[in-house]
Amino acid sequence: MSKITVHNQQLSKISKYLYGQFSEHLGRCIYEGLWVGEDSDISNVNGIRSDVVQALNEIDVPVLRWPGGCFADEYHWRDGIGPRQNRKKIVNTNWGGVVENNHFGTHEFFELVRQLNTDAYINGNVGSGTVQEMSEWVEYMTFNGISPMADLRAKNGHPDPWHVKFFGVGNESWGCGGNMRPEYYSDLYRRYQTFVRNYNGAEPIYKIASGPNIDDYNWMEVLMKNAAPLMDGISLHHYALASEWEDKRPALGFPEKEWFSLIKSAQKMEELVTKHSAIMDKYDPEKRVGLIVDEWGSWLAVEPGTNPGFLYQQNTIRDAMIAAITLHIFQDHADRVQMANIAQMVNVLQAMILTDGAKMVKTPTYYVFKMFKDHQDAMTMATDQQLADTTSVSVSKKDGEYLVSLCNYGLDAADDVQVDFDEAISAVTGEVLSGQVMDQHNDFEQPDAVAPEALQQLQLSEQSITATIPAMSVVTLHVSTA
Ligand code: AHR
Repeated sequence: MSKITVHNQQLSKISKYLYGQFSEHLGRCIYEGLWVGEDSDISNVNGIRSDVVQALNEIDVPVLRWPGGCFADEYHWRDGIGPRQNRKKIVNTNWGGVVENNHFGTHEFFELVRQLNTDAYINGNVGSGTVQEMSEWVEYMTFNGISPMADLRAKNGHPDPWHVKFFGVGNESWGCGGNMRPEYYSDLYRRYQTFVRNYNGAEPIYKIASGPNIDDYNWMEVLMKNAAPLMDGISLHHYALASEWEDKRPALGFPEKEWFSLIKSAQKMEELVTKHSAIMDKYDPEKRVGLIVDEWGSWLAVEPGTNPGFLYQQNTIRDAMIAAITLHIFQDHADRVQMANIAQMVNVLQAMILTDGAKMVKTPTYYVFKMFKDHQDAMTMATDQQLADTTSVSVSKKDGEYLVSLCNYGLDAADDVQVDFDEAISAVTGEVLSGQVMDQHNDFEQPDAVAPEALQQLQLSEQSITATIPAMSVVTLHVSTA
């Protein structure tokens, strides 16, 4: 039994950017997953596959991070402009040592941004790039007028500047981005960000410092102390693991204890966000600087027979639990968490979409993003909660309508939930995404094994709803007020 009382009191705005995505030059995320090229037999618009774009447009992607990840700190943007046949072929040293032909570069990324009607989050190269290179990339993308980089952009077919909403100054600078110490990186951050210029008097670029890994609180402390006034956001990375980092566990056919260990690892996000926010509060009590969780999700063993460097894993109803629980945590901390980007959008880690040549499936995680999309830019509501041990909930309100999202991550028992409101309600519709077995998933033979259905066990009275939330399920209730 769970009982939730929703008060008519708005708390924080849930930034739509909590529902952000991440696409890296890693495995089959960019190549095959998004980019197939104009000559492909797979239906595409300007080289970007249409089925994937259509599916993603149904979940309202608010922002897309690119080109990495670890790849970002070895990416030299000039390799990815100009006629494709002339572009440099490089080795993707981080991810499988495969050839990267640079056919997907800045122009192709902004074409994807256009097709997805989303905002761009570009991650710059600090680890192996120069200040000049970073500065000129920003000029190339955003300067409107006569300048060497704007002229080059025009020569390459795009006279108009693009809009760069977010810019990351390095990635994982404590690790693959250069193995730096926080004192050194904070000085580098101060220097590099100086040359991320705001041109054209347009909206300033939101600058994001490379923040801590998991619970590296010292990194957060040093960065905030040394550079907080010069940043708009600072990143945090945390992946959910079913065991140790060195012992990635399978995405399918796992035992019960790994259902719970993966969920427990995801729930650690609550502690991480709370503790990192407390450090940020010391240096930024007004909460101007955003905590940007720009990599999160489950990290499991790759599917048997696939390239270990490609991070291709299946996605089950357990991943739907991870997504719902984590998004609820972000919403609870919406006053500090200004953006989050699940890793990654297609074919890598906890993906929305899986492809196999021309075939495509939507994962259980995709459906959670779809069911939750009305939380984007809504207000979190004050609630009193008496929850069953395995139930998680978040309530928001937008345009006079409540969205109540629930997750029952128990394996056996349904939860009978009562939701009371301070005001009269007039209608409710419910959707449920559930599994019969722990690793229920969609694959190319059975693409619709997990998909949302109408929730049947749902009653409405004047100010109250009762609903039965099955085990292993995510439920959303759209509630209209009178
Ligand atoms: O998302 C996969 C990798 O995980 C990213 O490239 C890196 O930033 C992180 O370690």
